[in-house]
Amino acid sequence: MTHNKKKNNFTSSVQGEEIFGKFTSSFETDIHLYEEDIEVSIAYSKMLKKIGIINQSENLKIIAGLNEIKSEILKGTFKWDFSLEDIHMNIESSLYTKIGNVAGKLHTGRSRNDQIVTDSRLYFKKKTKTIIEELFDLLKVLVDIADKNKEIIMPGYTHLQKGQPVLLSHSILAYFSILYRDYERFRKALINIDFMPLGSGAFAGVNIPIDQDFLQNELGFSQKISNSIDAVSSRDFILDLLYSCSSLMINFSRICEEFIIWNTDEFNFISLPEKFTTGSSIMPQKKNPDFLELIRAKAGTNLGSLLSLFTTIKGLPFTYNRDLQEDRQGAIQATQTVIESIKIIKEILSEMKFNSEKMFQSAENSNILATDFADYLTAKNIPFREAYNLMKEISNTLKRTNKNITDLSLEDFQNISPVFTNDVMKITIKSSVEKRNSFGGTSSQSIKNQIKDSKNLLNKLSNEIK
Ligand code: ARG
Repeated sequence: MTHNKKKNNFTSSVQGEEIFGKFTSSFETDIHLYEEDIEVSIAYSKMLKKIGIINQSENLKIIAGLNEIKSEILKGTFKWDFSLEDIHMNIESSLYTKIGNVAGKLHTGRSRNDQIVTDSRLYFKKKTKTIIEELFDLLKVLVDIADKNKEIIMPGYTHLQKGQPVLLSHSILAYFSILYRDYERFRKALINIDFMPLGSGAFAGVNIPIDQDFLQNELGFSQKISNSIDAVSSRDFILDLLYSCSSLMINFSRICEEFIIWNTDEFNFISLPEKFTTGSSIMPQKKNPDFLELIRAKAGTNLGSLLSLFTTIKGLPFTYNRDLQEDRQGAIQATQTVIESIKIIKEILSEMKFNSEKMFQSAENSNILATDFADYLTAKNIPFREAYNLMKEISNTLKRTNKNITDLSLEDFQNISPVFTNDVMKITIKSSVEKRNSFGGTSSQSIKNQIKDSKNLLNKLSNEIK
């Protein structure tokens, strides 16, 4: 018996026709999955031995051959045959060369339809676990920074206009708050990935007494998929993962945008670590925030992959269709981008310098306290709308004369309205911050509570992970 190598139909020697073969091949993407493909085959071989389809010596031969292939791939000496359709055919064909016809027994009861989706689930499970670990570290870094910089006051913005003063820690904890939800999204995605499809055959199940519990245990899956048609058809686990990646990257893009703004000469709130900036080839004074810009851009690429997979799956009839071969390329790239982006953001955050004086001055040299003065008047029984209009008028006048509210004397205030008494002079940037003591607000006490709650949450999570 000879091995049917399942060459692409388009391996003709006619010049130029190899592009047709390449078109149908998933091989270049699937190279990423070689470890998982071999892991799945080893588990499968052991299972075939357990149920008596192969004997122990055949099992050992198959495993030794597969391990040899793995080390050749690792060393870079494995001879990939581009004319073979995919990674499964490459490995199977090499196994034939190494151990002969016994290699053909490995595929008993198995189809590439259940094989590829098992490989993918294993691969994305590993990647998702790495992302979860990295994100956890980033969350720790954020709480740490918030904790160490509790004194720093900065202007808070709406519409990129100075609005009200806040603690820097408040802004940093906002990142914690949103990224924690991304963390939970990845944990949920992981639950959906962690199902074993192996043993579904082409789609209808198999007619040998396959031991799926054994396979599940060997491959470390938490559960089995209860329907073999669904098992080979569905890629919603990749969609969940891509959605989680997209959400995280889009949140990163917003954080990056803030850092890019804060890093401009005009703001000068932070200095980015030198190694994460690059010079311009023509303007010698420049330190460009390229890493932040690239993360911002890659968020778009990532979202594109999510939309692309949704579109690929839309309207597909159930079981395997070759369209499904296009399921993993975007997600492989997305998970890699996410892992790298988390590492970069973590390091940028740990090493960036906060220019606390500049932040404070920026808050002070503005009319950022206008709301607080309006609130003061309201407390003196002036209806809020009236107080608001008065302060609006004052702010506009001050702007025209290039002055700030904090430049006004008690006399100035009393000329505006007799309602102002000397306690108006107690309204400062600091008092404004401290008065916002609502749950989740910016006062020192509220920030201390937020830090405590965040630390408790991280402790709880680290116990759950253990
Ligand atoms: N190369 C295929 C993929 O990546 C493997 C499964 C092929 N199955 C088939 N019946 N052609 O999805």
